[in-house]
Amino acid sequence: MLNVKDVKRDFPVLKNRDVIYLDNAATTLTPEPVIQSLSDYYENLGASVHRGIYHLADETTEKYESSRNRVADFIGADSPDEIVFTKNCTEGLNIIAYSLHLWSDMEGKILVTEMDHHSNILPWKFMVDGSERFELEYVDVTKDGVLDIEDYKSKLSSETVAVGFPGISNVLGTVNPVEKITDLAHENDALVIMDGAQWLPHRPFDILEHDLDFLTFSAHKMLGPTGLGVLYGKKELLNRMPPPFGGGEMVLNVTRGEVKWSDPPQKFEPGTTPIAQIVAFGSTLKYLEGLEIAEIEEHVNGLTRRAVNRLSGIPYVNIYGPREGEPRGGLVSFNVEGIHPHDLATALDSLDNIAIRAGLHCAQPLHEVMGLNSSARVSFYVYNASEDVDRFIDAVKEAKKILGGEK
Ligand SMILES: Cc1ncc(COP(=O)(O)O)c(C=O)c1O
Repeated sequence: MLNVKDVKRDFPVLKNRDVIYLDNAATTLTPEPVIQSLSDYYENLGASVHRGIYHLADETTEKYESSRNRVADFIGADSPDEIVFTKNCTEGLNIIAYSLHLWSDMEGKILVTEMDHHSNILPWKFMVDGSERFELEYVDVTKDGVLDIEDYKSKLSSETVAVGFPGISNVLGTVNPVEKITDLAHENDALVIMDGAQWLPHRPFDILEHDLDFLTFSAHKMLGPTGLGVLYGKKELLNRMPPPFGGGEMVLNVTRGEVKWSDPPQKFEPGTTPIAQIVAFGSTLKYLEGLEIAEIEEHVNGLTRRAVNRLSGIPYVNIYGPREGEPRGGLVSFNVEGIHPHDLATALDSLDNIAIRAGLHCAQPLHEVMGLNSSARVSFYVYNASEDVDRFIDAVKEAKKILGGEK
């Protein structure tokens, strides 16, 4: 079991600020070893990577590449060459969409889901708009907040080029059936892209077991630095895909007429990358592995269950997503009758320094399907305790009294 008291001590923000931080699905706080690793780069390394012919650059490159090895191990990839460092999860998804667009022999349908984050909708929308080669379709979400597998099957065909979906919905918390989605897509020779932004922080994941073609996620949602994401791609695909961006360090040979790209992953990492963040991400994964992902999963599940149970017992609260007992990621979206989520979030902040998210959570199509203008969301991580859930529930009741006329 996680010892939350001990874990909390690792997070300077929790010492320096009086806050109950329940907005972890947006971004997480940073532990001391990760902050130290960032400073260590600036204090003791500081050079660029893959370019220098001197000791400092070699040492920096070694640390940098050891982070890539750690990421490969963390998701069970065959090789570190399948790990591309990006700016965030969003950039990874854009790279895939633009690359497939540039891939001259590709044409057909792209399937995403109604529960996707804008980052897994807009890159595809940009790709299909005005294109004669591609079309975009959405797989339905049922009123219980799960993916409609029958609808998915009916929309899949030999014309499907690629299927994109979130491992876990950032609004509903739904844990999608990765294997089923992947198997069905592969039966139709479609590529499978999982947006892992909400999965990788709390659940063990083995890429080979799931046979995904692509996976993307963000470092800052799993205690890592901002400005960094990961794109995993199967090696044979990364080899064949044209890079969408050009620049330094992604080419073997450039003449005025011709370009020969480097092998992946460098082919997809032009220019100077976020070196300090990449180095510090190695320390982040070490820290997470120290806590053990399975323990993190259990802890976050416990807090989420508590929040679902307690919110379900309040008559004026509506919660969204899978029913009680169904698998759910570490978040709960909800509305309090008669209070706009923005007002609720402001009230919780004023009443007890409770930080929650309110709005559309970058998932407007899903809110439209659910018939909602917006929602409030709480999301949990390693430094949250059951007491945080209870104080949040008390504050919701208090806010209702003040703003919603409840006696
Ligand atoms: C499911 C999902 N996908 C993608 C993203 C985008 O992540 P980033 O902003 O780090 O690119 C988020 C962020 O909230 C998310 O929840």
